[in-house]
Amino acid sequence: MRVLTGIQSTGVPHLGNLFGAILPAISMSRSGANDAFLFIADLHSFTAVRDPQLRKENTYAVAAAWLACGLDVERVTFYRQSDVPEVTELTWYLQCMTPCPMLENAHSYKDALAKGTVPNAGVFNYPVLMAADILLYDTNVVPVGKDQKQHLEITRDIASAFNRAYGEDTFVMPEARIDAELMTIPGTDGRKMSKSYNNTINVFLPEKELKKQVMGIVTDSKALEEPKDPSTDNVFQLFKLVASPDAVRGMEANYLAGGYGYGHAKKELLEVLMARFSSERRAFQELMADRGRLDDQLAIGAEKARRVARQTLARVRERAGYGRNG
Ligand code: ADP
Ligand code: TRP
Repeated sequence: MRVLTGIQSTGVPHLGNLFGAILPAISMSRSGANDAFLFIADLHSFTAVRDPQLRKENTYAVAAAWLACGLDVERVTFYRQSDVPEVTELTWYLQCMTPCPMLENAHSYKDALAKGTVPNAGVFNYPVLMAADILLYDTNVVPVGKDQKQHLEITRDIASAFNRAYGEDTFVMPEARIDAELMTIPGTDGRKMSKSYNNTINVFLPEKELKKQVMGIVTDSKALEEPKDPSTDNVFQLFKLVASPDAVRGMEANYLAGGYGYGHAKKELLEVLMARFSSERRAFQELMADRGRLDDQLAIGAEKARRVARQTLARVRERAGYGRNG
C-alpha cells in the first residue's frame, strides 16, 4: 500500500510538528508495512514565499529535521517536490479537467479572498498541484490533518473526471486518512502550538534561543511558596510530554507541595529537552552545516520518485493523445 504525504517547507519544525507529524511518520515507516512517500512541498511554498534564500533555508531545515530524527532514505522515498518536475506537467492536464467553481469553493482560496488581498493564480490552483502530488505516485492513502480534507475531496473529483474520460485505471483513487487521535501539543501560551501563534518550542534551535522560548512559557502568578495545580499549568503539560514517568511524578509532587517555583520547573523542562533531543540536535547541526550531504540524501529520494512519476506521466500522455504513435 502506498502512503504519501507532503510537508510544508515553512522553517525549522517545532515540538508540535515533531510529536504530531515527524515522529509518528518515522515509526510508521519503520514498521515496513507501507511503501511511504514523503516530500517537502517547496513548489507550493511559491504561492506565499518570494525570497529564494529563505525558501532554500526552510527546505533544508525541514529535511535536516526529518533526517536528524532518524528517517531512513533507503526505506522511505523522501524528496523535494521541485526535484520531480513531472508534477507540474501533470498539474496542467489536471487543471484542464477541473471546473473553476470547484476551486473557487476551496477554503484556502476563500480565506485568501477574505483577507482582502488579491490572491495569485497559484493560490487558486494550489489544490490541483496537490492532486498532482498524490495522483502522480499511484497513492492509496494520504495521512493529513482535518484542514486538508477538502483538498483530498478535490483530488478524488479530479481523478474521477479524468478516469471517466480516459480509462478507469488511469489514476489510483486515493483515500484521506485523518487521524483525529493524534494529540495536540500545547504551545507556550496554552493554545495549540503553531508557527502562526508564535508560541512554539523548537528543539533544533541553539540552546540560548531554546532557553528563551522555555522561559517565555506563560504561567499564572502564584508565588514560589504556594502550591500549584499541575493540571492547568503549561510548563507541566510540556514536561509530561518529554520527561520520564518518574520525573513527571517528582514534578507533580513539587507542584502540589509548594515551595517550588515556575522558574524551577522551566529549568527542569529545558534540561529534559536538551537531554532527550541531544543526538537529534547534534545531527541537525551537522546536516545544516553540510548541504552537500543533505542534497545527496534528497537526490536518492528524487531518483526513486522520478521513476514512478515518469511511468504515470507516460500513461497519462498516451491516453490524452500526446507523443508519437507507438
Ligand atoms: P503550524 O501550525 O505551526 O503552521 P503546520 O500546519 O505546518 O504547523 O503543521 C504540520 C503538521 O505538524 C500538521 O499537519 C500536524 O500534523 C503537525 N502539527 C502542527 N502543530 C501541531 C500541534 N500543536 N500538535 C500536534 N501536531 C501538530
Ligand atoms: N497542502 C498540504 C498542507 O498544507 C501540504 C501538501 C502538499 C500535501 N501536497 C500534498 C499533503 C500532498 C498531502 C499530500 O499541509
